[in-house]
Amino acid sequence: MPYHDMRAYLNRLKELGEYKDVDVPLRCDREGSELQALMRHLHNIDGPAVKLNKLEGYNTPDVPVVFNPYGTRHRTALSIEVDDPLEAKLKLARILGDRNSWHKPRMVDAGDAPCKDVIITEDQVSLGEQVPHVWFGKEGPAYITSGVAITKDPENGERNVGWYRHTQLHNAWHPAGGSYSAKRQQRDLAVFGYWNPPMNHIGLHIAKAWGNGQPLEVAIAICCDPAVHVAAATGLPYGLDEYDFAGGLRGTPVELTKCESVDLEVPATSEWVLEGVMLPGEEEAIGWHSNPVGYYDKVQTFPIMQVNCITHRKNPLWHSTMEMVPPFDHNYIAILPVEGEVLSDLQHKIPEVKDVVVTPNMMYVVQLSVDGASKPHPEFGKYILHAVWGAAGRWGRTAKMVVVVGPDVDPYDLGQIEWAIMSRVQPKSDVIINASGQAFVLDPSAPKSAQGVPTQSEQMGIDATIKIPERFDDYPEVSNADPADVAALAEKLRDVLG
Ligand SMILES: Cc1cc2nc3c(=O)[nH]c(=O)nc-3n(C[C@H](O)[C@H](O)[C@H](O)COP(=O)(O)O)c2cc1C
Repeated sequence: MPYHDMRAYLNRLKELGEYKDVDVPLRCDREGSELQALMRHLHNIDGPAVKLNKLEGYNTPDVPVVFNPYGTRHRTALSIEVDDPLEAKLKLARILGDRNSWHKPRMVDAGDAPCKDVIITEDQVSLGEQVPHVWFGKEGPAYITSGVAITKDPENGERNVGWYRHTQLHNAWHPAGGSYSAKRQQRDLAVFGYWNPPMNHIGLHIAKAWGNGQPLEVAIAICCDPAVHVAAATGLPYGLDEYDFAGGLRGTPVELTKCESVDLEVPATSEWVLEGVMLPGEEEAIGWHSNPVGYYDKVQTFPIMQVNCITHRKNPLWHSTMEMVPPFDHNYIAILPVEGEVLSDLQHKIPEVKDVVVTPNMMYVVQLSVDGASKPHPEFGKYILHAVWGAAGRWGRTAKMVVVVGPDVDPYDLGQIEWAIMSRVQPKSDVIINASGQAFVLDPSAPKSAQGVPTQSEQMGIDATIKIPERFDDYPEVSNADPADVAALAEKLRDVLG
């Protein structure tokens, strides 16, 4: 059964012992937030999802904060109802590649949409009082990191649903010092929409609307059924609707309801919906922001959304997640679609691709089902490297480090990848240095373009396959114990070794 909403997903985690309520008071105010330390601790111990019931320094004390719900590859797989992470990736890749398996969303009336339980109209909107503010680390503003933004192409009405961050300006530090104007604090959010270079689809919608001097309507749906979030984090070709894809992941349509103040549709079971407009040319500098590469962005300029209506469920939940040195909570739910996108693209062209693993630090590892003499042709590993950089979508082309391994190397195990590099690679012959690849926009080591963000980056591809026939006729046999024998021996000695 697909999850009806975020609550159903959390119930599933509870059944599996992957969720705990925390009633210990914890601080979340800007000056003394304990939540970065909590995120690190939870990841150090491979910890569960938690619900923080007693936050201090919190503007909405009646709203509990869900924390770390996607913090492992296992929980991320569960978000699309699969137990095994590899199966989840294969499911995502299969549904992505088969549009016949997608389902168009179904509309429901406002009366059947829990997200309309409470409606706050324009004259009453005051973000600092009504929307949770949770601070983290040395960040200047509080960020909304669990919202999917819905917009329509201003020229043809095609819908986009994308998972992007939003900055709350209430009580925030301005990166140039001081604070924001009273209007900004009460009504405005900054939206992480990039359009130069074109990197996300909301950015293209903003550029089209503003190019014609028009406002762009936007709705942000927060804490939805996780399948909607996974779909919104997946880079579909421009013009395709993430709600349709989410229906494919769920095996049944997503239920939508009409917004109050804009011509947009939102998931009916979202915990919160913020509706508004982005007025042409309205931008703002924001910072500090802790990013997923593990550094603070001191200042970035983003377009502004003016919030004109807020709706939410009775007793709403809030999901707060944060970015820092990986791994962190939503690292894995961001990586699953990237792996699925690249895997889907490569497998359509190259059946010998068995798996694509993206590490929390965004190193791409491609595992093949063949190696050595079984490769279809010499230098097959290098062909794979180029195929990753040429893969469809937003991510493959930004892969700074790619490693190709054979079927006997576990692509999830950095130790085995290192072993393959050390024993199967000659640095000059088996490594490609691409001097003019596309940058991962958050990489602080890449030179910045005139727009202030990196656009070009050097890239490295390592072909760690066995070089038969390229260099050898024969390769030494691997000396290692069979995993089944290891398990049997461990059982035999359990009383002695534990
Ligand atoms: C929690 C989370 C936050 C994200 N934040 C952003 C963001 O602020 N800006 C962005 O461009 N992509 C962000 N991403 C990645 C996008 O969701 C992803 O690339 C998606 O495919 C973008 O949708 P689009 O192709 O329709 O623009 C985020 C992903 C996750 C999981």
